[in-house]
Amino acid sequence: MIPDTHAHLDLIDQETGKVISAAEQAGVSPIITIGINLASSTEAVWYSRSFDSVYAAVGIHPNDTGNMTAGDADRLEEIARGDDKVVAIGETGLDYYRDRSPAERQKDAFRAHIRLARRLGMALIVHDRQAHDDTLEILKEEKADETRVVMHCFSGNPDMLREVLGRGYFVSFAGPITFKKSQAARKVASLVPDDRLLAETDAPFLSPEPFRGKPNIPERVRLVANELARTRGISPEEMAGLLTANTEAAFGIGTKEKKR
Ligand code: NI
Repeated sequence: MIPDTHAHLDLIDQETGKVISAAEQAGVSPIITIGINLASSTEAVWYSRSFDSVYAAVGIHPNDTGNMTAGDADRLEEIARGDDKVVAIGETGLDYYRDRSPAERQKDAFRAHIRLARRLGMALIVHDRQAHDDTLEILKEEKADETRVVMHCFSGNPDMLREVLGRGYFVSFAGPITFKKSQAARKVASLVPDDRLLAETDAPFLSPEPFRGKPNIPERVRLVANELARTRGISPEEMAGLLTANTEAAFGIGTKEKKR
């Protein structure tokens, strides 16, 4: 089985039961569905309760932080504490590409998410788009390395990779790794140690080749995993085993290590 560590089931414009059973038939499980605001986080928990292979992450996406209040952070904590299948806080982080929410808002929300993940002993899922320096600085200031940190859809260069590996973070790759012009990203992926590598779809976004530009679904994480296997010269079966072990380690799935 190949895990998809980052999908947005609530944003996929197809019947969710069918999407999940198609993924299972394609050998993709578990799926971690990611909240982008309070409503979406609540939905993520609902999916995780309804489907055995689905786990939830709850958070407010940097682009959705414009109107976030202190009350929202409390509500997020309630949602996270309310169900055993919530395995992570996120996605959170900084997005200076879209710039839909002022940077200061994004930073405040990011800090609140890091504190929550530390308090709950949960993994932290980090979105960093054209904000590498500030992202790394805030993660350090807030001592994010006291919990597990996942750099979602990693887009840094080898220097940044060295930094995040030195801090003990996990590094996750999505569909763009399969694009023809992504040689540099493939090179970076090949430098990630076996025990820190994760794969994801970010469905319905970032469809891998040969589906680039089309709405994405979790079963296509297999194409991402196959590309990652090729870049390090191992078999797809070995890659599946490695990704499964790392997903369990990063998110505490299948263990009792979550603190309550
Ligand atoms: Ni996402």
